[in-house]
Order: sequence, then structure tokens, then C-alpha cells
Amino acid sequence: MPVSTDFNDRALSLGLARVSEAAAIACAPLIGRGNEKAADQAAVDAMRRQLNKLDIAGVVVIGEGERDEAPMLFIGEEVGTGNGPGVDIALDPLEGTTLTAKDMPNALAVIAMGPRGSMLHAPDVYMDKLAIGPGYAEGVVTLDMSPSERVAALAAAKGCDATGIMVCVLERPRHEQIIEEIRSTGAAIRLITDGDVAGVMHCAEPTKTGVDMYMGSGGAPEGVLAAAALKCMGGQILGRLTFRNDDERGRAAKAGITNFDRIYTRDEMVTQDVIFAATGVTDGNLVSGIKREVGFITAETILMRSKTGSVRRMHYRNPVG
Ligand code: FBP
Repeated sequence: MPVSTDFNDRALSLGLARVSEAAAIACAPLIGRGNEKAADQAAVDAMRRQLNKLDIAGVVVIGEGERDEAPMLFIGEEVGTGNGPGVDIALDPLEGTTLTAKDMPNALAVIAMGPRGSMLHAPDVYMDKLAIGPGYAEGVVTLDMSPSERVAALAAAKGCDATGIMVCVLERPRHEQIIEEIRSTGAAIRLITDGDVAGVMHCAEPTKTGVDMYMGSGGAPEGVLAAAALKCMGGQILGRLTFRNDDERGRAAKAGITNFDRIYTRDEMVTQDVIFAATGVTDGNLVSGIKREVGFITAETILMRSKTGSVRRMHYRNPVG
């Protein structure tokens, strides 16, 4: 039977929130326990169970990895009951496994859903990313600019000098030069140890998070998830895949990518309207983490639809035995 093309994002969105909630809640006993793998596995199992309850004919396009390296939620896995619209799913059941294991901020359970064919099938390679929040002219900063040119351009657009700009960067040896150059402009840097989906999302709410711009390389799958988030929240993200070897180029070719130098805009990574849900695992700037209190557990989810630009924050409380 051909799958339906009717992507009823409004009806599906609450179900999507349940999926990220389930993944985050499943991690609760593993927060701060030093066991990344166990936390990730708990999130994957719970996300898959909940996802398979949804009336969708879903295909995982951004997932836990290739079929031979991920037993569940692998790229190409069919999810949902099969009774419903054909949809693409991008997910990261636990974005920030180390953050969770160490009980550090901003670990999230994340999922995005769009009509079939709406998301870039990004291979598991790095992506050079540049993101800013809403309200700026298209192309005010570009990947071809140097870090200091980006700071200067954004400061001019914001109406401040470089000292009024905060850039979020993953703390990695590969970013030492970028960090040095940003510092030389006078801009401030929010260094994060992991979790660049949250890092990019923070640009969309600068008054809350203090972050104006995200730059640097991180996972390409996380880049597509972040693009889905910004499509809902507003803001720009540019991404260019980077390859360290032929194996990585092979992964991209297998995913159908032919132009290895292409710069993708937000709307080229996510081409149609999407819904996006992220539940806090550990406390973060956008959502609180899971709280375990005597008799119940609470979770906070941000649920968004790009069609309407609606952003909903949902608090969930559930008794535990
Ligand atoms: P995990 O969720 O797999 O722990 O990934 C976290 C993360 O920090 C991402 O947010 C980021 O895109 C990527 O890892 C960066 O990769 P690397 O650690 O290799 O620099």
C-alpha cells in the first residue's frame, strides 16, 4: 500500500514530544553514573518503543549509525505502526552522552520529523557549522568569512562592537585557531565540551542564553537536527561536510552526496516543514533536566512546528513506583 503524503504536523507533534520525553526519562537513573554506553542504550530503547507507537510510516534518515554498527534506530530503519503518513525522522536519543555520564549541562533527547524526502541524509562525518539567531539579514555571516570577519559582520548587524558578541564553540584541539582568532577580536566565547545541537539552538534565544553565534565543526547528523530546530525557532545555519579520509567520502557517496564541497543552508538541509522535540536530560539554558523526586519524575520538553513557528514548553510529571 503506498504511504500517505499527508503530513499532519499538528496532530503528530504531541506524539513526538512523548518520544523525546520517554528517551530522556529512561536516562534518569544513569545521569552522573559515568556510563555513557548504558545511558545511550536506555535512551535508544525507550525512544524506539515510543516511536513505534506513532501512526506513521517513518524512516530513520539521521540515526544511531549504519545498520551494521547500530542494532536499533539505524539509518534506514522503518519506525511507527506503518498506518499513517510517510515521514523522515532525524533523531539523537541522547545528544551528549558524556554530559549525561558526568551530569554536565545541556544533554538532550532530540527528534525531528518531516515529510518523506525532507531531510538531508547526512553521513556520520564532521560538518563545519555556522549559526546565528533570527532577525538578521540572510547571509550576514558566511562560511567563507574568517572567524574575525564573522564577528565583525554580526556585531555591525547587531549594532554593537565585537565585545558585545558571544560565540559558542566546541572545546576541541581542532578549534584552537578559531578560538584564538575570535578572542583577538574582543568577542567572548562560550566553550562547550559537547552537545552542539543545544549550542546552535542557543543562538535562537540570545537573551535567554547569551549566545549570538555558533561556529566550528561537529557531527553532520547533529547539523541536520540543529537545522530542523532553527527552521522552527528562526535563525540561520550553514553547513559544509568535511572529510578526513576516503572511508568518510565513501559514506557520503553512499548517502547520495555527489558535491563534497557544497555549502548547505538551513532550508537545504531541511527542505519542508518539520516538527521538532527536545527534552532536557541534564539542566540546560533552554530546558531543565529530568528531576527525580520522591514518588515522581519530571521532564521539560520544547516542542516546535516550523509551519507556524510555534514554540511550546511542556512540563511533564509522572508518578514512579
Ligand atoms: P554524543 O551525543 O554522541 O555524545 O555527541 C556529542 C557531540 O558533542 C555532538 O554534539 C557533536 O556534534 C559531536 O559530539 C562532536 O564530535 P567530537 O566529539 O568528535 O568532536
